[in-house]
Amino acid sequence: MTDTLTLPDRPASATPPKTMADTLSVTDNRTGKSYEFPIADGTIKATDLRQIKTSDEDFGLMTYDPAFMNTASCRSAITFIDGDKGILRYRGYPIEQLAEQASFLEVAYLLFEGELPSQAQLDKWTADIRYHTYVHTNVIKFLEGFRYDAHPMGMLLGAVGALSTFYPDAKHIDDPANRYVQKVRLMAKLPTLAAFAFRHNRGLPYEFPRNDLDYIGNYVNMMFSIGGKHEPNKVLQRALEILLILHADHEQNCSTSAVRSVGSSHVDPFSAVSAGIAALYGPLHGGANEAVLLMLDEIGEKKNIPAFIEKVKAGTGRLMGFGHRVYKNYDPRAKLIKRIADDVFGQTGMNPKLEIALELERIALEDEYFIKRKLYPNVDFYSGLIYQAMGYPTDYFTVLFAVGRLPGWLAQWEEMLKDKDQKIARPRQIYTGYDERPFVPMKNRK
Ligand code: ACO
Repeated sequence: MTDTLTLPDRPASATPPKTMADTLSVTDNRTGKSYEFPIADGTIKATDLRQIKTSDEDFGLMTYDPAFMNTASCRSAITFIDGDKGILRYRGYPIEQLAEQASFLEVAYLLFEGELPSQAQLDKWTADIRYHTYVHTNVIKFLEGFRYDAHPMGMLLGAVGALSTFYPDAKHIDDPANRYVQKVRLMAKLPTLAAFAFRHNRGLPYEFPRNDLDYIGNYVNMMFSIGGKHEPNKVLQRALEILLILHADHEQNCSTSAVRSVGSSHVDPFSAVSAGIAALYGPLHGGANEAVLLMLDEIGEKKNIPAFIEKVKAGTGRLMGFGHRVYKNYDPRAKLIKRIADDVFGQTGMNPKLEIALELERIALEDEYFIKRKLYPNVDFYSGLIYQAMGYPTDYFTVLFAVGRLPGWLAQWEEMLKDKDQKIARPRQIYTGYDERPFVPMKNRK
């Protein structure tokens, strides 16, 4: 492929290799020329390949990587995943310990600041968020414009995008103090908007934030309070909090990449986060737990499981909630969620679908097909069942995911802004269309 674009010449090794072993030698068999590129952190720089040319006019070699299957788009110190070992850590802390011991706001602080907060820092962070839970009255008018049956994710992404018009100061993304205010606003207002979307679908009046309650208590109250009354269930609230913690970040997934990519244009964080919500809205990302419930409905009874498994193995269906692009071991979040299920069903009573799910998992984990392909339960296998037991309709599951993922989006957005290597996201393409051709006047077209 040729192109008129030329780049300034630069040496192959911007940072000199530590040893000979830290380089990659490449021979271009088209020209016979050899090149040596530094290897750092298990990667080579894609732009280094541009030195590989067949002529001066040649644009230089590119990599072709649809869906970023093997491209690191950033350096990040936020979340570590080892998919083969089933490890997930936020800022170095194992997800199991955070889920067991931390609050959601503590985890959000950790993701933003890189360290767990002291008591004084957590108190300030909590108070700042509490102060910002209300949304402007005009936002309510805006939400009222949605049809009664509007999907809550559509409402959420529209409402979060609209917040950018209420806070035009949010465009000052270079100012750390300003970024802090916008992060607080988003953390405070997303549960309010998410609860309003929940009430809207039921034709219930919006319940305003109660700042005497904690973050989760207030969110749940805004959803379920009737006539100003709601009996809080601390077990269910803690279960919801743990689910939010488990979803808080998952490094460069589709929605986070969307937030980073849109944010790289230096738009305000409300607009960037609404892009993340849009990405999460898609069934391949946020919607798999709903698919698990549909599958369990389809199976109907335990005795139908073997026939269902055979269908999956024959390639005529998928075992939803199993398998993951990154985890080739038990998704650590799924392990924790299974434990939460016990707490939740202890409160709400056993759901026959859980029995089917447990049996399905038992059979699948012993089956050669799933063992060979390293297919284990993922985060979605049990989460839908739990959300349903807690009283959330299926189209609301993704909204809960969005409320949980917000700290991750914002932490990654800010990390991207501070990263000197980052520029506006702009992938290359391999053009496969027509070569130049003359315009055809209407009278000459077939
Ligand atoms: N049921 C049956 N077979 C499966 C499943 C499954 N759930 N997942 C993968 N396989 C099989 C594939 O058919 C393929 O088999 P083959 O080698 O004989 O062709 C092999 O395992 C590899 O599968 P891929 O599709 O290449 O794996 P990929 O990494 O692209 O897909 C995905 C990962 C999309 C999650 C897949 O496992 C899947 O569709 N799972 C069900 C949907 C689901 O639970 N999604 C939620 C993911 S978690 C999240 O997004 C929050």
